[in-house]
Amino acid sequence: MEKKLAGQIAIITGASSGIGAGVSKAMAMAGATVIVNHPVAATEAAAAAVLAEIREAGGTGITCQCDVSKEDEVKKMFADTISRFGTVDILVNNAGLQRDAPFQDMTLEQWNYLLSVNLTGQFLCAREAIREFLRRGIVPARSRAAGKIVCMSSVHEVIPWAGHANYAASKGGIMMMMKSIAQEFAPHRIRVNSIGPGAIKTPINHTAWDTPDAEAKLLELIPYGRVGIVEDIGAAAVWLASDDSDYVTGTTLFVDGGMTLYPGFSTNG
Ligand code: BGC
Repeated sequence: MEKKLAGQIAIITGASSGIGAGVSKAMAMAGATVIVNHPVAATEAAAAAVLAEIREAGGTGITCQCDVSKEDEVKKMFADTISRFGTVDILVNNAGLQRDAPFQDMTLEQWNYLLSVNLTGQFLCAREAIREFLRRGIVPARSRAAGKIVCMSSVHEVIPWAGHANYAASKGGIMMMMKSIAQEFAPHRIRVNSIGPGAIKTPINHTAWDTPDAEAKLLELIPYGRVGIVEDIGAAAVWLASDDSDYVTGTTLFVDGGMTLYPGFSTNG
């Protein structure tokens, strides 16, 4: 397999499970050295298991504990990575969570906590990445770009989601942050894009697919007729981080089996 990310250093946040773990494996197989980020001491073992799989498959990387909602921890993660590996080429702003509630019952804590991880966390990590990309500039042997950021958004950056107002608000926010910084730093050849996953089989949404009845109901929303897997997102992330997408910036790539095609309209409206 051609190593599209050979020699590059990639930080993947929220990588101890789900999409982040899948993206870490895909990027490591594409030749990147991966920083498998996870939030707290309790997630170290899961991150170590992801790293062990990567090493067994011939990849390289380390784990790194850092709560992306904490400015000092984010600064330390970037400083440690740069002092150990020299620089950072790729940031995958993936860490995210759900705190679902009917809107009338949603607590300020549920709202603030979700926004602090899903949106503020992406801001803090993107800012450190941009600072490093500006410092280093373009090194042609590494990449045609001075750096690449891939933000993990969701179909819910455009599809409203009842019962999940905090989550949908965070993803709408990610969309405009991504586009704004893509515009701001395109002249520096820094590329910033998002992936908008649809329903992907991970722990975050397991109740939506882990019984045959639930999966059948979920498939009503997916014209392509299958629930996504983390490898679908890993492949998209490698492409967005590689020079194959060198002319792509400021866009969301939906990887959703057609969920954003509003399948309810295929027999109605
Ligand atoms: C959510 C999942 C959901 C999917 C499609 C994702 O962003 O995290 O829970 O299944 O969107 O609705």
